[in-house]
This record gives sequence, C-alpha cells and structure tokens, in this order.
Amino acid sequence: MIERLEALLKEAEQSIPSAADLKTVEESRVKYLGKSGLVTEILKGLSQVPAEMRPQIGKVSNEVKNRIAQLLEKKKEELESKGALDLPAGWDPTLPGRTLPAGKMHPLTSVQKEICDIFRSFGFDLAEGPDVETDYYNFLALNFPPDHPARDAQDTFYLQNEILMRTHTSPIQIRVMEKQKPPFKFVAPGRVYRNEAIDATHHHIFHQVEGFLVDRGVHFGHLKGILDSFIKKLFGSKVQTRFRPSFFPFTEPSAEMDISCVFCEGKGCRICKHSGWVEMMGCGMIDPAVFTNCGIDPEKWTGFAFGMGVERIALFKYDIDDIRLFYQNDLRFLKQF
Ligand code: DAH
Repeated sequence: MIERLEALLKEAEQSIPSAADLKTVEESRVKYLGKSGLVTEILKGLSQVPAEMRPQIGKVSNEVKNRIAQLLEKKKEELESKGALDLPAGWDPTLPGRTLPAGKMHPLTSVQKEICDIFRSFGFDLAEGPDVETDYYNFLALNFPPDHPARDAQDTFYLQNEILMRTHTSPIQIRVMEKQKPPFKFVAPGRVYRNEAIDATHHHIFHQVEGFLVDRGVHFGHLKGILDSFIKKLFGSKVQTRFRPSFFPFTEPSAEMDISCVFCEGKGCRICKHSGWVEMMGCGMIDPAVFTNCGIDPEKWTGFAFGMGVERIALFKYDIDDIRLFYQNDLRFLKQF
C-alpha cells in the first residue's frame, strides 16, 4: 500500500506542475484528493491490513496528501499570479501587447499651432472668419478699389458675382473690427484659395496666419519689436530680421519682413538662394482708410497688421522643397514629423 501511495505521489509530482490552467489544477485535485479520488481508493484496502502496520500507512498517506495539496496550491498561485484565470493553454498575458500605430498632427497643423501659440504667449487672442467671402470683405473694405491692379495678383476663385473663396486671411481683420471696439490684439489662422497653377512652391489651397494689433499710439517700432520677438521664438535667438518697403492696399507704410537664413546663418546657401535672407511675411501700419471703413477713428487709433504663409514657414523650417508633399498624405512623408 505504501508503495502504491509513493507511486501515486511520483505521478502527481510530474503531472501537476505542467498543468496549463486552473481548470486542469482543479481536475487534478479531484483526481488525487477527491472523495472518490486515487488516495481514497488506495486507502479502501486499509481494513485488510494488519493493525500494527496501519499507523505507518496512515503517516505515509497523510504525507502524500499534504504533498499533493502543496503542489496543487503552488500551481494555483503560479497560474493566478499570471492572471491566467480561465485563459486558453499557451496564452501568456505577461507578454507585451502589440502597439497600435498612433496618429500625429499634420506638419502644417503643428506649425500653425506653434505660430498661434507664440502670439498667444504675447497676449494675442484668436479670431476666425469664413472661407467663402464677399468682394467687400476680401477686397473693397481692405482698400482694394474696383479694378485696382492689386486684385489681379490674387487670382481669385469666384463662386458667383461678388462671392468668392477668400484669397487671404486679411478679411478677418475687417470682420473683427466691424463687430468689436478697439483696442484689438488678434491672430487669425485659416485656409486661403488662389486660382494658381500647382507647382513645387504654389498650391491653390494654402494657409495663412493673419495678425493685427490696434491701440492708442501704436507705431512701426511696435510692429518690428513684436515680429522680431516672434521670429526669435520660432527659429531661435540668433536669427536676424530686416524690413523692406513694399505695397499692400490695406497698410501704409507696408513692408516685407525677411529673416536671416537659419541653415547658413546668413552666409548664403542653396535654401536662401545664396542671398543669406529669406522672405517671411507681409506687414505694415493699418491704412487709415481701412479704419474708416470699419467705423474706427484713425485719429484716435493706430495699429499694425501682418500676414504669413504657414506652408512657406513649414517648408523653410523642415527644409522641404515641394509644397505638394503637404497635401498628398503619403505616410512615408508624414511619419517623419
Ligand atoms: N494679405 C496679404 C497676402 O495675402 C498678406 C499681408 C500683408 C497681410 C500685409 C497683412 C499685411 O495683414 O499687413 O498677400
């Protein structure tokens, strides 16, 4: 009987540790220790055993039972600590999961956000306007008289007579100044549309960020200071700015702002076409005629405005040579940002 008990223990020692799940552990418990399990089965013959041998058999059977119970408990704990409650055999929940590819912001969105965040850190608010505009907001109120040659430069998509896709974000200036009272301090991002042939540097849809600040006593020095600080935040403190005279119907005086090339530090390279400078945005002091169109007294209020192309800045920032890459949604391109 002792031999049979010991053989049973050997068998249990082999089979229990290889149980793959809790269900198998429970089946083993019933098989060995259950009411009609194998241990009980063996002990059934105890009454035929001479009385003097019974204590010895009792001792061994207790040891075997305890040992099997220990094995079962140990296996159960092991499986539970793996969380393998009723999981299929061979399924290891401790292995790392497969990572799902995470989406990211489009490079144009993140550059636009970066631009607006810098101005917001200077205390500018955000404004918006519609993509479909009227001739009045896109042109007339901004001091583009009918038949003015500056209108031709904007290659407008007309939907109907007088209704058009905005060619720039400047109409947002008019919409805000019409509805609210000065002082103003806004940036306004948005999509703009121009009927242009598409090539590496032109697209018929692109993005601008407009900015304008109106208060008492605002002068060109404020414009230069704000834009210079903006550029230093965007590209680093070493970058220089310069202002060249220009023309826009809605600003007087008007200027183009250039920045020293961040790739060659102004020495001249492929990217700045060996000039050391890159054109960044148009700007100027808001023309008194624009104030008058919005019912604001140009004797009391002065201000400056600026408008920049988001694509242009993104191309420069990331040294990309083709604007079309931004709209093709090729993952090989987008994954690099
Ligand atoms: N709206 C102009 C354009 O699209 C850019 C611009 C220039 C905006 C000067 C301004 C500004 O606010 O003051 O070409």
